[in-house]
Amino acid sequence: MSQLLLQNRKIVLAITGGIAAYKTCELCRKLIKNGAQVRVVMTEAACKFVTPATFAALSHHEVMTDVFGDAEGIDHIAITNDADLLVVAPATANSLAKFACGIADNAVTTTVLASACPVVVAPAMNTRMLINPATKANLKTLQERGFYIIAPEEGDLACGDSGMGRMRNVDDIFAYICALLNDHVALPYQALPPTCLPSPQEPAALTQTKLLPKSHGAGLKIVITAGPTEESIDPARVITNKSSGKMGYALAQMAATMGADVTLISGPTHLATPNNVKRVDVTTASQMLDAVKSQIGQANIVIGCAAVADYRVIEPMSTKLKKEETGEFLTLELVKNEDIISYVGHLDEDRPFTVGFAAETDHFEENAREKIANKNLDLIVLNDVSDPEIGFNSNDNAATVYGPNGIVTSFGKMSKVKLADLLIELIIAEYKAKKHQEQDDSKSK
Ligand code: C5P
Repeated sequence: MSQLLLQNRKIVLAITGGIAAYKTCELCRKLIKNGAQVRVVMTEAACKFVTPATFAALSHHEVMTDVFGDAEGIDHIAITNDADLLVVAPATANSLAKFACGIADNAVTTTVLASACPVVVAPAMNTRMLINPATKANLKTLQERGFYIIAPEEGDLACGDSGMGRMRNVDDIFAYICALLNDHVALPYQALPPTCLPSPQEPAALTQTKLLPKSHGAGLKIVITAGPTEESIDPARVITNKSSGKMGYALAQMAATMGADVTLISGPTHLATPNNVKRVDVTTASQMLDAVKSQIGQANIVIGCAAVADYRVIEPMSTKLKKEETGEFLTLELVKNEDIISYVGHLDEDRPFTVGFAAETDHFEENAREKIANKNLDLIVLNDVSDPEIGFNSNDNAATVYGPNGIVTSFGKMSKVKLADLLIELIIAEYKAKKHQEQDDSKSK
């Protein structure tokens, strides 16, 4: 018999008070049929839609409905101790608000707040509740904190309305859980529809996210450049570019989450330093180069995510240029900045695994191949910046990763935080594969 998709996986299924709770019976059955061990937690309101007896029969365990109760000796703190995943389906607007605020006033909210494992939520509610700025802000907060949110879908709603807000169907939720737990490289990550997020989207606060436990980065030193650089024209003006730094910061955050020792060399940005990351602030390209040189001792991996200014003004003015004096035309004499990632890629001794980024608008593959060769990179991550939805300042991105032998993989449009998670995992795996190969080669000599 083929291996069951969720063999020996431990899942805590939390149910809050929405009509979609009836669909969770089928989800519970399906999880168990596929080998998972399921423990169920319900709010009082959930029990009004489906009785705990139904879930007790389906899960073969007593259901926890009360923080003070004693379902088979398991309490709200211990229930997720050895769980792989906590799935809240349906997640009502009320419960989502409580999760976002850290309220613990019933069996489900306390379980979520005390969770020792990643949390997936499948929202279900009336459209007006979903698009209320309060719910949108809560979803955004939860997404930034690393909750996996299964976007609701459009359809008929319990209230008789039709619109966005229906809990995703059981097959989709099941597929999402399987992909998450089996750690597929291409997770079915679902960007929330714009209707579910505040508008305009504020830069994501890069807080420590709670991801599937990973330790791939332990023992590795990773140096990452991020953000733009600024080159002075005069004391008031600079040459810079549109980089927000979000991608590089997300990479640093994920690398640290995976246990790596991370140094982030950053040009001017408005982003908070991710947890457990050492940050070195620089302004110009040459300061960034100096910082890289002083930080790469013993680095295993260097990732050049910064959008470095290609040129600087040869002699910046010491006083502010006056247009009355400069007249109709102004010519600035520029000189090329040294290419930082190319410097790292061409190191003779102690060369780290070197990863570049390329923001392109056309001739993608050609440009990627050229850059990987010219800069002597191990990998290059190519972004299409002609698409404003995944461009410089957006919260989303998509990427194709090239190695010296061509395409390694492609990631579709997703949040920069999620993409960073997948990219760091890939970069570390490729780094380790290269190390093994080098060891094998030296043994066979
Ligand atoms: O050649 P291009 O600027 O498109 O290459 C982008 C890659 O090179 C990025 O990884 C960027 O961080 C890096 N780069 C650099 N130093 C420069 C210019 C680009 O490290 N002076």
